[in-house]
Amino acid sequence: MKRDGTTISIWQNNMPDYISQTHTLRAEIYDVLIVGGGITGISTGLLLQKAGKKCMIAEAKTIGFGTSGGTTAHLNTFMDSPYNEIEKNFGKDNAQLVFTSAKQAIDLIEKNIKEYNINCEFSEQPGYLFSQDKKQSKELEDIFEASKKAGCEVVYSDSIPVSVEFNKAVIYKKQAQFHPTKYLYALAKAFEDAGGTLVQGCRITGVNENSPLEMESDRGKIIARFLIYATHVPPGVNLLQFYCAPYRSYAMAVTLKDNNYPNGLAYDMYDPYHYYRTQEIDGEKYLIAGGEDHKTAHKENTEACFTKLESYLHRYFDIAEISFKWSSQYFQSTDGLPYIGYLPGNPLNVFVATGYGGNGMTYSHIAAKVLTDMIVLGKSEYKKLYDPKRIKPVAGFTDIIKEAADVVGNLIGKWFPSSKINELADLAHGEAKVVKYEGHSFGLYKDENGNVHAVNSACTHIKCKVAWNNAEQSWDCPCHGSRFDADGEMLTAPARKNLEKIDLREINE
Ligand code: FES
Repeated sequence: MKRDGTTISIWQNNMPDYISQTHTLRAEIYDVLIVGGGITGISTGLLLQKAGKKCMIAEAKTIGFGTSGGTTAHLNTFMDSPYNEIEKNFGKDNAQLVFTSAKQAIDLIEKNIKEYNINCEFSEQPGYLFSQDKKQSKELEDIFEASKKAGCEVVYSDSIPVSVEFNKAVIYKKQAQFHPTKYLYALAKAFEDAGGTLVQGCRITGVNENSPLEMESDRGKIIARFLIYATHVPPGVNLLQFYCAPYRSYAMAVTLKDNNYPNGLAYDMYDPYHYYRTQEIDGEKYLIAGGEDHKTAHKENTEACFTKLESYLHRYFDIAEISFKWSSQYFQSTDGLPYIGYLPGNPLNVFVATGYGGNGMTYSHIAAKVLTDMIVLGKSEYKKLYDPKRIKPVAGFTDIIKEAADVVGNLIGKWFPSSKINELADLAHGEAKVVKYEGHSFGLYKDENGNVHAVNSACTHIKCKVAWNNAEQSWDCPCHGSRFDADGEMLTAPARKNLEKIDLREINE
């Protein structure tokens, strides 16, 4: 299976591309069109289809192409935003609601696994959170108290399952883990078997807010009564993008010489934090560890994040082999809770689910439940808690939309002599640079064979300058997280269009 980067995650291994039962658009009116075939889109589609709605899922690439294929797939009832912070920002009752919804999400995953007999190595696990200095220990005490009040089964522990020095530790009971892409593929099949339409390679390019909604796609027109964006942040320019920060996270799956694999999930309390767990796939055990998160395009040498993570792991584990290393993207909301519900600035039949932070697997199934209830029943007990409309308008937002209108295409038909771009000669194989020439800004990448790939470095979303991600060989945008491959092809929304390719020519003078 393919993913939005050049590294290979453990979840891609031995997974062929998913083959859908439908390859062309049908001339039908759907109840719901879901944009995005990741875990949110597929799980929501299945629930809605089972509830009697006629659904279509449109995936621009192949299912699991985005973060669902690059997650570390832990299922938690305690979140990256700890319960003491949730309680402070949203109150005690809402902290309890977050816990209840997270518990129901894990229950839903377990129910799906039983109902569809999915072999995805799901197992219930204890989750250990541990402190390593006095300040962290004080914070851990606060988190412990707030977690108990929220409803978590949590107790103090004298030990943790990894040989990392620690001061204090707590155990959250009834956490879980699974193989996300095996689960995703089985769910997609269940969705199609239930009568749902799943079309891959179908990018939505525009929406006309008629009744019913008319969506333009690169495969033709799609008509639906409801629209759900399950694409992280929605494509195009939307207020939500100003309230969601994109982050990159790094993970490795390694084998250990001493077979000392942790029994449970473990998390330290640094910012960014490290996490560890064991995954057994087809009889082979791996330690999965991750961390080194940073804001997208805010790190010059992303490959160095792997080096840092690797040397950190060498301190505590007897590593035999690094079998997989990969990075992926998530979006963090400004107040710590995701945005699930009506998409701000749109009619009340357009929905979104984003801002999951590092808890995407759990929040995906909270979103599936909330969105299904809102569409089928017209209400959800979690509607207010996760309502995206809690965000405030951004000053100058209308101007931003107007300015965004003509971002692409200003260099079409032009070409540039490569001999005049001095930096090109200095570029090593495998290196990339953003350079200026005649008032234009180009992103140049020289691949390992010496071929130059040149793009306009203005992001097609709202013109921020993209930066090179050497770990994934992609152009990443620091503003709202759009990503493009070396030739400018779009990998991640909110941009709707590819980066403009630059025509560089060798000329004889
Ligand atoms: Fe918004 Fe690039 S993602 S400007």
